Amino acid sequence: MKAPLCDALIAYREEAPLRLHVPGHKGVCPYGMELLGEDIFSIDSTEVPGLDDLHHPRGPILQAQRLLARAYGADESFFLVNGTTGGIHAALLAILSRGDKVLIPRNAHKSVIGGVILCGAIPIYLKPTYVKSLGHASHISIEEVKGALKAHPDAKCLVVTNPDYWGLAGDIVGMVNLAHGAGIPLVIDEAHGPHFSFHPELPPSGLEAGADVVVQSPHKLLGSLTQTSFLHWKGSRVSVERLRLSLRLIGTSSPSYPLMASLDAVRRLMELQGRELLDAALLMADKMRATINKIDGFKCFTQGNLEGVAMDPTKLIITGRELGLTGYDLGALLRKEHGIQVEFADLNNVLVIVTIGDKGYVGERLIGALGEMADKMRGQRPLIFQGSMEQIPMPEQDLTPQEAFFASYEWVELRDAVGRTSQAVVAPYPPGIPLLCPGERIEKEVIEVLEKLKYAGAMIHGLEEDSLVAVVK
Ligand SMILES: Cc1ncc(COP(=O)(O)O)c(C=O)c1O
Repeated sequence: MKAPLCDALIAYREEAPLRLHVPGHKGVCPYGMELLGEDIFSIDSTEVPGLDDLHHPRGPILQAQRLLARAYGADESFFLVNGTTGGIHAALLAILSRGDKVLIPRNAHKSVIGGVILCGAIPIYLKPTYVKSLGHASHISIEEVKGALKAHPDAKCLVVTNPDYWGLAGDIVGMVNLAHGAGIPLVIDEAHGPHFSFHPELPPSGLEAGADVVVQSPHKLLGSLTQTSFLHWKGSRVSVERLRLSLRLIGTSSPSYPLMASLDAVRRLMELQGRELLDAALLMADKMRATINKIDGFKCFTQGNLEGVAMDPTKLIITGRELGLTGYDLGALLRKEHGIQVEFADLNNVLVIVTIGDKGYVGERLIGALGEMADKMRGQRPLIFQGSMEQIPMPEQDLTPQEAFFASYEWVELRDAVGRTSQAVVAPYPPGIPLLCPGERIEKEVIEVLEKLKYAGAMIHGLEEDSLVAVVK
């Protein structure tokens, strides 16, 4: 099976023409090569004949994108070099105009809010379902969307996140039916689901369900280089013409060939071996989950304790609550004392991801560390009560996100910001889910949650000097 862009880059390297073109390193960068190796420079080229042009593809990039569309069952697919963030911005710019209403989950990633700022749409926030056992807000229920569509029959688009960062998936087929029943497109932020299409034990993918635009981060879970993503388009509800225009508008005019080649390579890998690689990852994750659940003091969530929500079994959500550990404590101890870095931690849990990139059984060290920790800490600290970091009231919107973004603003202490209008996104990172969006009235409850998260050690994007928030003047 071919990887057209990779093949073209190898051919150009073998042809070895005198390079009188950018990039300035000319294929060799003595200092950079010590860290990065020779190969990355040798294929880091520009739009010379034979290597095509991402923004007007006619050659190997077009062929590679067509193979990608075929692999995922899309009508057309695009390589992205500015992450899923760029894809979501382009999708919203393609679909929405200033003043259009868009239904979005209140716990959407900040890239969705960024897209809303760019196009000037009015967000109608959907209240996510709170998963009590995990202590966080997750997917959107069918009832919530039905209610919003009834209250806002003029909405122009529905956006959902599926799955969420923790791998929890909602009723995506139901979402497609509701959106299409209302005559509007469904955009799925599938940053955490690029592997779903390649294994039947994983939740259904957005494209299979019939979504109109699906944006995925293969760099997160498949193995392409960081910053690379896929955008898939299907059907006739969204103009592919406008999608192309929007992608050109937001994209760099110098897309990186190593980044794009990594997308071509990973698509080929998944088509050839995706099923068996995922078989191995699923087996390993199941074994780790079962073994962790035998350690007195730790719990690794299974499908059975997630209140009926479907989950991606390659993700391990682990809590040390019974040992008195917050997710932040557990993540920090694993790194400091055992040299293990988890994907991320929140107030309640840590998230560990198992992917097709793991070589051999990776559970031994983690399980050994958890066992040691449990022996040392059992009975030492009081049990932690489940923190509910995202169960905050739906805020009032004083301005649209775009109006607030462009308004003049001042910095005030968080504690003095009650009743003011937020100018910026304020989001614990990861996962990048905003607690404040531009244009929202700042309520006491949100400040309390932010203070609690800061105290527990969360990194908060959008606060200056840790406690100043930008508010509209
Ligand atoms: C749910 C979700 N959507 C979108 C993004 C943005 O993806 P990227 O980092 O590929 O731009 C993220 C990143 O963490 C995410 O978690």
